[in-house]
Amino acid sequence: MGDLLRRHEGSVAPMLAFDTDIHADHAEGPWVYDADGNRWADFACGTAVANLGHNHPEVIAAAKAQLDRLAHAGCVFRYDSIVELAERLRRITPGGIEKFGFANSGAEAVEAGVKLARYSTNRQGVIAFRGAFHGRTMGSVAYTTSNAKYRENYHPILGSVFVTAFPHPYRWGMTEDEATDLALDELAKKFKHEVMPHNIAAFLIEPVQGEGGYYPAPQRFLQAVRDLADDHGIMLVFDEVQTGFGRTANWFAAEHYGIRPDILVMGKGIANGLPLSSYGASAEVIDQWPVGAHGTTFGGNPVACAAAAKVIDVMEPLLPHARDLSKRAFERFDGLKARHETIGDVRGLGLMIGVELVSDRATRTPDPGAMDFIASYGVAHELIVISCGPDGNIIRFIPPLTATMDELDAAIDVIDGALTAYEEKVGNESVGGDRPVTSQL
Ligand SMILES: Cc1ncc(COP(=O)(O)O)c(C=O)c1O
Repeated sequence: MGDLLRRHEGSVAPMLAFDTDIHADHAEGPWVYDADGNRWADFACGTAVANLGHNHPEVIAAAKAQLDRLAHAGCVFRYDSIVELAERLRRITPGGIEKFGFANSGAEAVEAGVKLARYSTNRQGVIAFRGAFHGRTMGSVAYTTSNAKYRENYHPILGSVFVTAFPHPYRWGMTEDEATDLALDELAKKFKHEVMPHNIAAFLIEPVQGEGGYYPAPQRFLQAVRDLADDHGIMLVFDEVQTGFGRTANWFAAEHYGIRPDILVMGKGIANGLPLSSYGASAEVIDQWPVGAHGTTFGGNPVACAAAAKVIDVMEPLLPHARDLSKRAFERFDGLKARHETIGDVRGLGLMIGVELVSDRATRTPDPGAMDFIASYGVAHELIVISCGPDGNIIRFIPPLTATMDELDAAIDVIDGALTAYEEKVGNESVGGDRPVTSQL
């Protein structure tokens, strides 16, 4: 293993952050194994991708069957798996989303969504939200402000992108209503001082900010953005790359809000691990694109599409179980918060749960050391958990939807043990909880 790591470092570019140095050999369900037979429960789902657990047998079988028939069509031939997938997407995506394009990564799909908004409105401006993560291609870094490191040395960044506040009530030390008011006030100032609404093609927003810290958009905030979009002919683009495909225990986060996007961007869990992403809109919007306005050689690869169609079939009956898991996880984390002073906040939607770790509850001071400790403790106890947030102090708890209740409990028990060990180490006292935490499913 040590030799493989040395060879990796000798020949693979260094900029990609790896959460562990574990060399995965094979995987099944929640379990990832190394070549020596050691195993870990991956409660990171390969960064919110393997929502059905790794190597789901039905998804793999569908991909293999397609691979045996036709691996590539490359815009020369038409094929059935892309149609099968698009028809299913039309059924499960929010009302009004009717036709779909395909790409390979989330960032590509974001770019396609924004291009479609620009093309169909014939406007250039984009309003994005501070703390968002939309990918790392040259276009998408212009919308990504979860961390300045993603933009370092890439200036000039794409023009006509205006970044405004996304409500972060816990970080700002405010109620949800106060944070919503503040963020809406900044948005109003954008239109007053920086750009006219009729120059804006799109609002690009994650309904739950992911990498930025697992912040669900307050209902009133998202509704206000929808209303502004309607008032000014602006496309509302939901980036559901991370929130989609069961992650919030619904198909899409949009369903929780009852708010319809004009353009929907998808990726990550769509094919449970095969590279695929998608974007959809109404026929009225997307049919404005003439042939050649956008495209890619590999997007909508037949094998990835066959896998994704199967993901939808397999996931559908699992969504009620995901809601049960979510309820249980929030109850457990609320309980942990009552006993562990290191937990400052528990928030999220469905199975997209952020547990924010602080060194001082009164000042909400981020404690990335606690996160590092919990991640290492997890590795030593067969559990993988990863972080999010600009300070790296938030547990990004994203179990597979296929996890059993016992597996969920066991994972949270490990986190509980890690918190106890950490608090003993830093001399914090575990205290009785004083504030209730409300889950938001
Ligand atoms: C909300 C969101 N949008 C876009 C992306 C970019 O996806 P990719 O890394 O596949 O380009 C991500 C990746 O984490 C994401 O979470």
